[in-house]
Amino acid sequence: MSQAPRRVESLQTDKGYVPVYTTEIVEQPWASYAPADHQTWATLFRRQREILKGRACREFIENQERFHMSPDAIPRFDDLNEVLARTTGWQLVGVEGLLPELTFFDHLANRRFPVTWWIRRPEQIDYIAEPDLFHDLFGHVPLLLNPVFADYMEAYGKGGVKAHGIGAEALVNLTRLYWYTVEFGLIRQDDGLRIYGAGIVSSKGESIHSLESAAPNRIGFDLERIMRTRYRIDTYQKTYHVIDSFEQLMEATRPDFTPIYAHLADQPSIPAGDLLPSDRVLQRGTGEGWLQDGDV
Ligand code: PHE
Ligand code: FE
Repeated sequence: MSQAPRRVESLQTDKGYVPVYTTEIVEQPWASYAPADHQTWATLFRRQREILKGRACREFIENQERFHMSPDAIPRFDDLNEVLARTTGWQLVGVEGLLPELTFFDHLANRRFPVTWWIRRPEQIDYIAEPDLFHDLFGHVPLLLNPVFADYMEAYGKGGVKAHGIGAEALVNLTRLYWYTVEFGLIRQDDGLRIYGAGIVSSKGESIHSLESAAPNRIGFDLERIMRTRYRIDTYQKTYHVIDSFEQLMEATRPDFTPIYAHLADQPSIPAGDLLPSDRVLQRGTGEGWLQDGDV
């Protein structure tokens, strides 16, 4: 029997959670997944597919089906890569966990999406602080088949490399954009508000909360507004930013961000739950259950 693959554990310290960053690309150790790992995949896959009916956007559901992922086993990256190779040209690369920013941007800029090879433990089914295989594969990979979103992700990577050369503040602005679109974005479709963000679709609780709870604000997409907005990494979002289409997202982010970063440098950040008079408010949140501290 092969040995269970080693994974670098992130640290829980008295200063909070400290992620461990590694840069290497690793081969998916598929034969080493334990039955319990496949079971975790099956449980999460079945549960989220059910919850996302009528909640995830059309493009997410349709593209996810094109991969023929099933609850039977953890998908093989090689199989998913075949589908990607003959469509949008993206490729998945296995990684140990979070990557240093520039390494991550460089992958995206070259249409490589880093996927964490390990899956959460059974006691982490409902919540895990860091991305694992389920979040990355189930949450992020489907929209890589959408041509517009696929281009957005590449453009984001290129923009990241550029922002990295500009400075830390530019990176903060850009990271907020990723957070509020790629991870926690909502989209308004003909049949109603839907989810496209990977952080939401891979979470049972937030899939329901983001659409159905009265607590959070839901406001129309505004690039500079998002770039100024702090966010939550330890609770559900206080505000969701809603796009009307992936084309809108692509068009709004096409301009050179260099002057925008310069302009934003003089402006204060916005707390995660605040609304501004200029916001296009779709739903004003009640703020129920919000923690006062902890915006990132
Ligand atoms: N247009 C952005 C820039 O010039 C790049 C970008 C595109 C960033 C799409 C994010 C998303 O920096
Ligand atoms: Fe993610």
